[in-house]
Amino acid sequence: MASNTPAAATRRATHSRSASLRSKTYRLFTRLLPRFGVDFSWVDATRIDEVKQAVRPETKLIWIESPTNPMLRLIDIAACGDIAQQNGCRLVVDNTFATPYLQNPLELGAHFSVHSTTKFIGGHSDVIGGAVVIDDEELNEQLRFSRNTTGGVPGPWDAWLTLRGLKTLSVRMREHARNAARVADFLLERPEVEQVYYPGLPDHPGHELARQQMRGFGAVVTFDIRGGAAVAERFCSETRLFSLAEGLGGIESLVGYPFLMSHGAFPADEKRRKGISEATIRLSVGIEDVDDLCGDLADALERATSAG
Ligand SMILES: Cc1ncc(COP(=O)(O)O)c(C=O)c1O
Repeated sequence: MASNTPAAATRRATHSRSASLRSKTYRLFTRLLPRFGVDFSWVDATRIDEVKQAVRPETKLIWIESPTNPMLRLIDIAACGDIAQQNGCRLVVDNTFATPYLQNPLELGAHFSVHSTTKFIGGHSDVIGGAVVIDDEELNEQLRFSRNTTGGVPGPWDAWLTLRGLKTLSVRMREHARNAARVADFLLERPEVEQVYYPGLPDHPGHELARQQMRGFGAVVTFDIRGGAAVAERFCSETRLFSLAEGLGGIESLVGYPFLMSHGAFPADEKRRKGISEATIRLSVGIEDVDDLCGDLADALERATSAG
């Protein structure tokens, strides 16, 4: 369960209320897996009591994402691990935003740590892949068996690109996080900006938890711009160094508009529950010169708010 967590793998879903799993995970859980008799309950996993209450005798898996995409909410991994332990089920953490450099879910009580290696692990926006990290031989065998049976294996070129990227993960993540912190501070000072979401900011609701379970606050900074949809859309087309793209995690900075792009498939009221509005903009802060990045954001903010 995450800031929308499926407490799941059961026969019937009882209630449905989510907060912020990424859209394709949501789609997998609501449209594909139910065909195989797997059901999910959705809870706001920032509230640990809700996670506790959602677990049923038949629950097999708790699935969380932390920090969440795109609102960067923090979920208490150790507390979810305890709940899984007490109820004989397993905890999965999508660790894509944090990466193994900044957060190690298995050490906090998770059974599986999953990553989109397309993002920071590959690090150069040139490969698609994923990884599941476990420290249990039996589970490992089961996963290998289903991987071999279903054919979900990367080709050698993809594997090579991913391994090459992995070698610089630590250097990139340090630089990403340093730049992201500067960008968050910069945005806080701007009159065009309504709100900044970054776990490194002391008044972020998950800041203390992030300090406990992470070793840095990551590369993604989300903010709400003043002026609504038109200004937000203009901003996204006015940046020069931040390219408009749905992805994230590469060395180059990207800007995304979750309302229509990465989270466009969610119904509008669902987006609102997650905190995603027409004003929300997600930045994947790269490792370019940070003064150049802030200069680009300043220009785009001015152009977006002065036009129209
Ligand atoms: C948190 C998180 N997990 C997993 C993924 C999956 O990424 P992909 O299937 O593109 O490799 C994404 C993509 O945005 C993500 O944000």
